[in-house]
Amino acid sequence: MAHLFNRNVLLGVSGGIAAYKSAELVRELQVRGAQVRVIMTHGAQEFITPLTLQALSGYPVHTELLDEHAELGMGHIELARWADLLLIAPATADLIARLSTGRADDLLTTVALATPAPLMIAPAMNQQMWKDQATEANVNTLLSRGVQIVGPAAGLQACGDVGPGRMEAPAVIADAAERLFASGKLAGKRVVITAGPTREALDPVRYISNNSSGKMGYALAQAAVDAGAITTLVSGPVSLSAPEHTRVFQVHSAEEMLQQCLRLLPECDIFIACAAVADYRPRIVEQQKIKKGPQEVTLQLVRTPDIVAAVAAHEHRPYTVGFAAETNDVLAYARDKMQRKDLDMIVANDVADQAIGFNSDDNAVTVLWRDGEQPLARASKSTIARQIVHLIAQQA
Ligand code: PMT
Repeated sequence: MAHLFNRNVLLGVSGGIAAYKSAELVRELQVRGAQVRVIMTHGAQEFITPLTLQALSGYPVHTELLDEHAELGMGHIELARWADLLLIAPATADLIARLSTGRADDLLTTVALATPAPLMIAPAMNQQMWKDQATEANVNTLLSRGVQIVGPAAGLQACGDVGPGRMEAPAVIADAAERLFASGKLAGKRVVITAGPTREALDPVRYISNNSSGKMGYALAQAAVDAGAITTLVSGPVSLSAPEHTRVFQVHSAEEMLQQCLRLLPECDIFIACAAVADYRPRIVEQQKIKKGPQEVTLQLVRTPDIVAAVAAHEHRPYTVGFAAETNDVLAYARDKMQRKDLDMIVANDVADQAIGFNSDDNAVTVLWRDGEQPLARASKSTIARQIVHLIAQQA
């Protein structure tokens, strides 16, 4: 599991003795892949210094609402927008009361109002304060607004009381944060997608390639992330930004793409080969730029490795999905490729029509698997990608 990979977690620390556990919580979030920034209330700074959390998080700690220097850097609105999750741990009785009434009297409560991100809190207080009707009512108000509450745990408290009110262990809180992002059809699945073209070098400045823009593969990555998958793109050279929360490995040639995919196989449940991999590469790659010479030259080409076939034949074979870009007899060729390459599913893509397929915004495909098929009518590549991911989730 690494559902916090590349997620921005804004950790709010309020003023209770459990604030010292926030240091460990920063680490627990980081090992799950999150980027963590910290806001501390004034009370929190009585228990642990901003310097500690700055050193652990790697970012300056935010403490003031009305601070011209902080606002020049990452101001409270930017912080609120940056967060994928606002996690407040510990959340004291006072902080919970202020959240429940919508106060905005310090940086943390202001950001809590200003962020569109989900809010999760880990209460920590004396057991009698936790049981008090006022706290109970405030907690119920937050629950009714969809706030996630983790804990509190029960046991011996710092004040000597025994009962519910201890902040949950940092690992338990980080697990709860991770579960928040682990929903959807492909929750917890590790998906590797190849995308874009490959470039097969002729000399230092020339190469053989094709018109793949990467749009289909990147749309699949977005759809996989949206379905809760831990998503990795192995991408040839394209001019697209990768979807958020996707890990990207940039490659050039078919050989590089193969090696990167093989390295990822131990952490791959579903492999989708959308890349337009060059079938041939020049036999010789000249070290110097080739000079203009006779009217005609002959290029000797050799086959590149077949990446999707190698993945399907691997001992750690994931559920393997290929694409078939064809200009004629599309379904027959696609079925043949599915069998020859031993794929679980293939997406037959008619690329004769310029409006779909290579470098277009739309696509229209037929998805084939061993005992079924589903045509997907022309739509944007994002819509087609969501439908393909839906079918994969049903079949895998
Ligand atoms: O990138 P876009 O501009 O959005 O365009 C999308 C697309 C048209 C490239 C995409 O939808 C598509 O059809 N991708 C497959 C293109 C292709 O190379 O198809 P193919 O029929 O030649 O290959 C069959 C399958 O084998 C594919 O899954 C391909 O990734 C894989 N392959 C091919 C050759 C090779 N050496 N290794 C491979 O893994």
